[in-house]
Amino acid sequence: MISKEILAKIEKYDQKQLLRYYDEISEDEKKVFERELEELDFTYLDIYKIAGENAKKESVYEPIAAMKLGEINENKEAYEKIGIEAIKDTKVAAILLAGGQGSRLGFDKPKGMFNIGITKDVFIFERLISNLLEVVNKAGCYIPLFIMTSEKNDSDTRAFFEEKNYFGYDKNFVHFFVQEMAPSIDYNGKFLMESKYKLSLSPNGNGGWFKSLMNSDVSDKFNEYGIEWLNVFAVDNVLQRIADPVFIGATIDSKKPSGAKVVRKASPDERVGVVCKENNRPSIVEYYELTKEMMEKKDESGEPAYNYGVILNYLFNFKELCNIMNNKLTNHMAEKKITYIDDNGNVITPESPNGYKFETLILDMINMLDDCLVFEVERNKEFAPIKNKTGVDSIDSARALLKENDIEL
Ligand code: UTP
Repeated sequence: MISKEILAKIEKYDQKQLLRYYDEISEDEKKVFERELEELDFTYLDIYKIAGENAKKESVYEPIAAMKLGEINENKEAYEKIGIEAIKDTKVAAILLAGGQGSRLGFDKPKGMFNIGITKDVFIFERLISNLLEVVNKAGCYIPLFIMTSEKNDSDTRAFFEEKNYFGYDKNFVHFFVQEMAPSIDYNGKFLMESKYKLSLSPNGNGGWFKSLMNSDVSDKFNEYGIEWLNVFAVDNVLQRIADPVFIGATIDSKKPSGAKVVRKASPDERVGVVCKENNRPSIVEYYELTKEMMEKKDESGEPAYNYGVILNYLFNFKELCNIMNNKLTNHMAEKKITYIDDNGNVITPESPNGYKFETLILDMINMLDDCLVFEVERNKEFAPIKNKTGVDSIDSARALLKENDIEL
C-alpha cells in the first residue's frame, strides 16, 4: 500500500499522474513502485518551481589568468618530474566519468563501448586505456583507475572490461562505483514514468561523482593507496592525456587545490564552458550564460579575455575535496529526450527533447575551491569529444583528429 505520507506528497505537489496505472499493476510491481515512491525526492519539484524566478545571480565576472603553452613548454621537464614522482608514490588516481547516457549520440550501450574504428575495432574505452597506459609505461607503475557508471550501464560496462581483458590494464587497479539517480519531469513539472510501475530515473549528473565515490565500497582504497590528487575526466574525449604528469606537476607546483585543462576557444561563441573569476573565485560559465560583452571583451594584448574553454579534465586535491564534500551543489535542469509512458500506456521514445532531467555538474565544484590552475593544452592534440553522430563534436570530427594524430583506425 502507498503510505499516507506519500499520498499527501502526491497531493501537495499535484502529481496524481503517478497513480494512473496503480490499480492495474501486479502485486509484485506494486511493491517495486511503492519502494520507488518512498525513495523519490519530491523537493526536486521546488527547483522546477523556482527556475526562472531567481535565475539571475548577482555575480561579478572577470577574466582569469591561464598558464599558457609557452610557459608550460619552458618548464615541461621540471613539471613532468614532479608529476611522475607523485604517480610513482600512487598519490594520483584517475577517475573516469562514464555514468552519462550519451543521448545525443543515440547509442544504446555505454558510450565507452562505441567502436570508432574503420578498418579495425577501436572502442572509446580502449582509446582511453591506451592513453593512460602511455603514462603507466613512462612511470613504470599502474595508476589506480576508478570508473563511475550508473545503474543503467553498470553491468554492461563491467562485462565489457572483463570481455576485453581490461584492454591490457592490470584489473587489480581498476575499481567501479555507481552514481545515484534522479527523477525526470515533463514541461508541466510532472514526474515522468518509464513504465506502469517505474519512474523515469536517470543518472544525477556528473557533479555527484565525489559523493558517490566516497559512499561506495571502494572508498577505502583512497587511504590504502594514499591518494592525494584525483584526475577526473570525461568518457568521450578520445584524445585527452589522462594522468598527464606535466599537468599534475604544474598543479602541485602551483600549490592550488585544483587544476583545469583548457583549450583556446575556436570562436567567441563556441559551445564550451569558459573559465573565469566569479566574485573573485574561480568559476566556469556555461556558453549559454556568456554575455555578448564577455564574448567580445579583449585583454591588454588584444586577445579575447574569456578565451579558455574547459574540456572536462580536472585535477582535484583529495583533502580539499573532502572539506567541501557536504556543500550543496546546484541542481541544473537539463532539457533532454526522456523515454516515458503516455496516457494510453504506450512507451514513447521521443525524437526531440520533451522534458528535464535534474543534474549537478562537476564544473560547479571548481567554484567551491579557492583557486584553480588554468592549464592550456593544444586543442588538436587533446580535444576530440564525441557528443553527436555527425557535425560538431561527432564521430566524424573525432576520427579526423585521431588520424591527424597518427592513430590508426
Ligand atoms: P555529457 O554532459 O556529455 O552528458 O557528459 P551525457 O549524458 O554523457 O550525454 P548527452 O548529453 O545525454 O548526450 C559529460 C561526461 O560526464 C559523464 C558522461 O559520461 C561524460 O563522461 N556523466 C554525465 C556522468 O558520468 N554522469 C551523468 O549523470 C552525466
